[in-house]
Amino acid sequence: MASPFSDPAFYRNRYPFYAALRQRCPVTQVPMGGSSGDATVVTGYDQARAALAAPDLSKDASAFFADRPSGRALHPALASTMLNSDPPDHTRLRRLVTRAFTPARVQQLRPAVLALAEELVDGWSPGDRVDLMEGLALPLPVAVISQLLGVPDADRDKVRRWSTDLLATGDHERIDAASHALADYMAGLAAAKRQDPDDALLSALVAVRDEDGDQLSELELVSLSVLLLVAGHETTTAAIGNSVLALLQHPEQLAVLHADPGRIPTAVDELLRYDSPVSIATWRWAPKDTTIGEAQVPAGSPVFVSPGAANRDPARFADPDRLDLDRPDARAHLAFGHGIHRCLGAPLAQAEIEIVLRLLPERFPGLQLAEPAEQLPWRHSRLVRGLEALPVQL
Ligand code: HEM
Repeated sequence: MASPFSDPAFYRNRYPFYAALRQRCPVTQVPMGGSSGDATVVTGYDQARAALAAPDLSKDASAFFADRPSGRALHPALASTMLNSDPPDHTRLRRLVTRAFTPARVQQLRPAVLALAEELVDGWSPGDRVDLMEGLALPLPVAVISQLLGVPDADRDKVRRWSTDLLATGDHERIDAASHALADYMAGLAAAKRQDPDDALLSALVAVRDEDGDQLSELELVSLSVLLLVAGHETTTAAIGNSVLALLQHPEQLAVLHADPGRIPTAVDELLRYDSPVSIATWRWAPKDTTIGEAQVPAGSPVFVSPGAANRDPARFADPDRLDLDRPDARAHLAFGHGIHRCLGAPLAQAEIEIVLRLLPERFPGLQLAEPAEQLPWRHSRLVRGLEALPVQL
């Protein structure tokens, strides 16, 4: 079997590939492409849910890559983050960060998210043609996370540039350089907040302690703040683009939301299910022989769990390829993952998508696609399903 990941058609529309894999077996061996060997790919819903929470699968890539030198020069704060650590390290980091990154903090941030989104669209006029990715979906999430962390206004462009560089899929030199620039910047900012605390998240992370007095180390602080930027940027950008595209392709459903914005929060769940931004979850592997559902996974196999495929599994969601904003069980989607690594930023991401879906039709009731959907360029990333550009007529 040829690797689906080497086929450009996969990146344009991956759902037929996922359906074919699932039909073969919901947990199956697939070539990764090039000389990289096979990976276990999980496309069934029940199996994906089990794999995302499986204690037998490790997220610690350093052990896997120990005898496969990568030649990379990524900053150590990015090479090892909470997202690629296992218990007990993960448990400790997650406990500390959830003490500081609370639902109340997200709630307080909502007016700022709206103000940032308004600022971005203020220069637009009905009738204009704009690229919604460049004008809104890309800058908004990084502005929001900068605000959340307490990055001063004057540094936001810099942070945005580095965090865009970190997304330069395939350009290792650029990514590695940006990782150092961003990590060094965050280390300096954390030192400044230690001297002169404010009420933003980075100061809270500097100060956080658990009952036993345990605290985040300097490297952990930097690692967490960069992880928040990276994990919350690309994903939310893709989510905004995919959600707006899905609604523009279903104008009758967009009209329903415009008439009754109270329905937007539940609609966001269905939009995340329908075209999931994290299409294949982050790196996992099997340190020893194990099973997912009934399938054997050999020791040493990388495991690619696909929320994008699981969310279109007909065994879980009726008529899964249909967008149905009234779907009663859309909330069961796995777009934010499952288990101990479930997305830490889910409430913030949801708030951002909701705010955009309310603002756009309010300001631009005639919003429509400026080019046929089949011609839109998709990013060439296995992990993230997101648009490169979304030209719209306002
Ligand atoms: C719609 C936007 C988003 C989507 C679809 C998304 C999706 C995900 C998924 C699927 C995971 C689990 C990955 C895995 O197990 O392999 C995850 C983890 C994570 N996400 Fe998000 N995310 C989004 C936005 C955000 C935002 C805005 C932030 C931060 C402000 C964030 C922070 C994180 C962090 C820190 C983790 C790691 C949690 C851990 O290892 O315990 N995400 N996200």
